[in-house]
Amino acid sequence: MMNFDYTEEQLALKARIREFCEKEIRPELRQMDDTQTYPIRTMKMLGEMGFLGMPFPKEYEGMGLDYQTYVMLVEEISKVSASHGVAVQTHHALATWPIFTYGTEEQKRKYVPDLASGRKIGAFGLTEPNAGTDAAMQQTIAEDKGDHWLLNGSKMFISGAGVADIYVVMAMTDKSKGNHGISAFIVEKGMPGFSFGTNENKLGIRGSTVAELLFSNCKVPKENLLYEEGKGFKVAMTALDVGRLGIAAQALGIAQEAFDMTVRYMKHREQFGKPLSSLQALSFAMAELETKIEGARFLLYRAAAHLDQGKNDIAVTAAKAKLACSTVAMETTIKAVQFHGGYGYMKDLPLERYMRDAKITEIYEGTSEVMKMVISGGIFGRGAKHEEKQVQMLNSAEELKALLADCGGDICWSGGRGLTKSGFEKLRQLTEKTGGEVGASRGAVRAGLAEEACQIGLTGRTVSPKVYVAVGISGMTQHLAGMKESGTVIAINRNPQAPIFAAADYGFAGDAEEILDRLLAIL
Ligand code: CAA
Repeated sequence: MMNFDYTEEQLALKARIREFCEKEIRPELRQMDDTQTYPIRTMKMLGEMGFLGMPFPKEYEGMGLDYQTYVMLVEEISKVSASHGVAVQTHHALATWPIFTYGTEEQKRKYVPDLASGRKIGAFGLTEPNAGTDAAMQQTIAEDKGDHWLLNGSKMFISGAGVADIYVVMAMTDKSKGNHGISAFIVEKGMPGFSFGTNENKLGIRGSTVAELLFSNCKVPKENLLYEEGKGFKVAMTALDVGRLGIAAQALGIAQEAFDMTVRYMKHREQFGKPLSSLQALSFAMAELETKIEGARFLLYRAAAHLDQGKNDIAVTAAKAKLACSTVAMETTIKAVQFHGGYGYMKDLPLERYMRDAKITEIYEGTSEVMKMVISGGIFGRGAKHEEKQVQMLNSAEELKALLADCGGDICWSGGRGLTKSGFEKLRQLTEKTGGEVGASRGAVRAGLAEEACQIGLTGRTVSPKVYVAVGISGMTQHLAGMKESGTVIAINRNPQAPIFAAADYGFAGDAEEILDRLLAIL
């Protein structure tokens, strides 16, 4: 059983970080938002307090906390400043985590203590102009030059670019291998040929600077390859799974704070002689929001618990957490501004900033659409790709006969509209010889060629014989649904382009009735 009640230790940490945020971060928020400046002073202070190494072991100068506590604290920071929330989580999940998880002992000793203590700030370089959602389309190249790697290309929209000291960067080491040709590198600010573009002007999270990484004959030491060559996509995807927990926590912090501010406002703001809280249209909306926020929080804590339990694949649970938390953050902040009326729209209150900050949580570290791809992949299989069988074409009835030898009567002779009534009669005669039964496509039944009881497919029966012989059946999806679990599928059809061949193991392209006659003669 998972216990989502806060422990004394967690409550104390939450109180400690909140106090810090109120005292040190809150006074700098307005200026940070107006001028788009990275909050380096308070980030360094968080590092000194240990909060830039929360889930890493103490021997690497981390705090040794679990991920459930980590997400609670990212939520707490984000309640006050979503910009700090993303800066903290990028540093943890996308830079320190991959080095800690995939690095050699030497790399871990060299980089993790500096990152976990906040002496150095980390960032992550995956996104490129042509590789956003389709992250495998990497065009930055890393060439093996014997004693070093040579990087050329650029990354865009990189959070913390220019401020961060250590970058986990993905680049192509072998273009011919697709995602298996991507490798990860640890690149340090100051390496020759590594520079930064100008800061982007953004709608929200304006304290988190975003810029390009530019690699022009950038020399990266040989030993800075992270994990194995060709495993960079795996490094990036698994880091993003952890990252998505942090973004979910950030979104939750934004939602919770906007919600709490609105509750306070609704209790004291009076219109029509009574507080807004007594207007059912508003209080019911708040009831719905609170339910959604709590639901999203449970998804997040469950995903973090899975990470703590060392579960191999948290992709789907993390995607659900991020989708739910970011959706509720957007919904809550829009309603919070609305319920505050004119005040909500003014910069005197921070709510308009919360609304601007919330939007990015539906976009970065995988858009809501990507989350749905990952979640639906969990339901229907990753990528839900259609698997086409490789059909082997036959040339004679004798070859076909050989395939029937081991069926032991577990066979379905199924006909479609490519047969006539006499063709169906031949199927019946064949069942007398081999055993099994006669099946039919929907089209054949509707054309009166076979009885309704024979109909196989979505609108008929489902069969799974050892051998399924589809004769004169075109192979529409609805028919395949009724026979796709069959052992060996043999398709006989006049049209060599018929879709049934894509679902078959063996095929015979020719006159169906002729081949049935020949089979009847030799069986
Ligand atoms: N864990 C481990 N392996 C994974 C994986 C995961 N979560 N997801 C995919 N893989 C592996 C697959 O097993 C597969 O391996 P094989 O080739 O060996 O079979 C391989 O990766 C390719 O898988 P897919 O075919 O499913 O991959 P795809 O190319 O179709 O892409 C995707 C899938 C989910 C859309 C992925 O590209 C993706 O996550 N895109 C979004 C990118 C993203 O989140 N960018 C964020 C940038 S960083 C950022 O935003 C930070 C910031 O500013 C704060």
